Amino acid sequence: MYKDIRERLEALNKIGIALSSETNPSRLLELIVREARNFTNADAGSLYLVDLDKNCLHFEVAQNDTLKKRADLKLKTFKPYSLSLTKSSIAGYVAITGETLNIPDVYNLPPEVDFEFNRDFDKRNKYRTKSMLLVAMKDTEGKIIGVLQLINSTDSQGKVVSFDTNIESLVSSLASQAAVAIKNAQLIKEIKAVFEALIQYSVSAIDARSPFTAGHSRRVAKYTMALARAINDTHEGPYANIFFSPDHLEELNYAAWLHDIGKIGVREGVLDKRTRLSDAEMEALISRFEYIEASAITETQRKKIVLFHRKGKNATEIRELDRELKNRVNQIKENLAFIKRINTGNFLTESELKQLKEIHQKKYLDLEGQKRNYLTDFEFENLSVRKGNLTKYEIEEIQSHVIHTENIVNNIPFTRHLKKVPVFAAGHHEMLDGSGYAKHIKAEDIPLQTRIMTVADIYEALIAKDRPYKKSIDQTKSLDILKEEANNGRLDKELVRIFIDKRVYESE
Ligand SMILES: [Fe+2]
Ligand SMILES: [Fe+2]
Repeated sequence: MYKDIRERLEALNKIGIALSSETNPSRLLELIVREARNFTNADAGSLYLVDLDKNCLHFEVAQNDTLKKRADLKLKTFKPYSLSLTKSSIAGYVAITGETLNIPDVYNLPPEVDFEFNRDFDKRNKYRTKSMLLVAMKDTEGKIIGVLQLINSTDSQGKVVSFDTNIESLVSSLASQAAVAIKNAQLIKEIKAVFEALIQYSVSAIDARSPFTAGHSRRVAKYTMALARAINDTHEGPYANIFFSPDHLEELNYAAWLHDIGKIGVREGVLDKRTRLSDAEMEALISRFEYIEASAITETQRKKIVLFHRKGKNATEIRELDRELKNRVNQIKENLAFIKRINTGNFLTESELKQLKEIHQKKYLDLEGQKRNYLTDFEFENLSVRKGNLTKYEIEEIQSHVIHTENIVNNIPFTRHLKKVPVFAAGHHEMLDGSGYAKHIKAEDIPLQTRIMTVADIYEALIAKDRPYKKSIDQTKSLDILKEEANNGRLDKELVRIFIDKRVYESE
């Protein structure tokens, strides 16, 4: 007897250790039932969790050796379901009262009890539930969080017997340990959910600073994860043996969500720049041109008065002044129209650049009598960008977002299995041939996870709605561009192949 108890305590101890190291909630529940069944030699077992908000019990786990051995076992029998939290069911009674029930035969319950046994399961599965041991799972505060139900204890000959009464308190203790483990696992799950929501919320807010990138990170994460899973399902080609575990996938998911968080360090005006000069800058320029035009008119008037005083009414010279003025005004208007036209970001030709330089160098007198150029150096610099809207410095500013991403993500105290998130996230603009940024690293130094994100990021940017610097491109054309980039040695060929062949781009 003593030996038996000692062995059981040792077993209990081992179970406690196993429970405390399992943090995955569903695996934990399975483990609890399995260990409790081993401990009591029970043919079957189930576990219910109390849901006080919905006033019900969730049937979470069902294990049954006899049914498992049968060839006709239908797994759908074990679909989780809920039952209302009342004393009329056996599990409900235990969940409410906290009492341990050790029933020799559930088909012969004493008449005075409140609960009854539901034989539906037995009928459906041609099973005979006989002995049952039910214990409440209480957390450290004594709150009942679930019920552990053990069915049909068997003796050494496999005959169903009653549960040993001496074991009740040990099973109770096991149930309490299980309750603590469940609480911990739930807590970890909740903390993770809060952390994830916080990341997703902040990243979405950063994306939404520009209407053109709203939802970008979420969609990049979606394509990234779908591509990683497609690699897991691939049994051919260079990535046949690559398998991303749930931990690896979690790490990649964080990296994908966070890849553009560094855009918080880039000015909105630059992120969203639609024209070479902003609306406000253009307004200032237009006012100046209006002033230049008005000055020209005033100057002519002044000249006309001087002429009139000196020579009297001289029709020819005055007409000449009027013609000159008309030409000047026309030219100012043409110059302004030209600037408005090139402000939109189309490619700037050589002759347009020459014309812009000429306008820049033209002089006028400001209100203080100072000679000034028609265009400020800032305006000239922005307007003279040959392709797109962004100046060299603005491109540098946008590209710096990956450095900000690395710095920000490096400061998040990720647990060990997520430690590569900063590296994966910060490399998403690197290209296999070294032509990317910010570190210009090449294929051998770019992790597979980063390459996956790069394919996802480029595809999302191509297919996304119009952006200031590009029109939306349809699916076929976008996939063609990915192929082209792969053939040019910039993107991973095999990843692009999987992305297209497995229709990863269609993932929702
Ligand atoms: Fe980016
Ligand atoms: Fe991105």
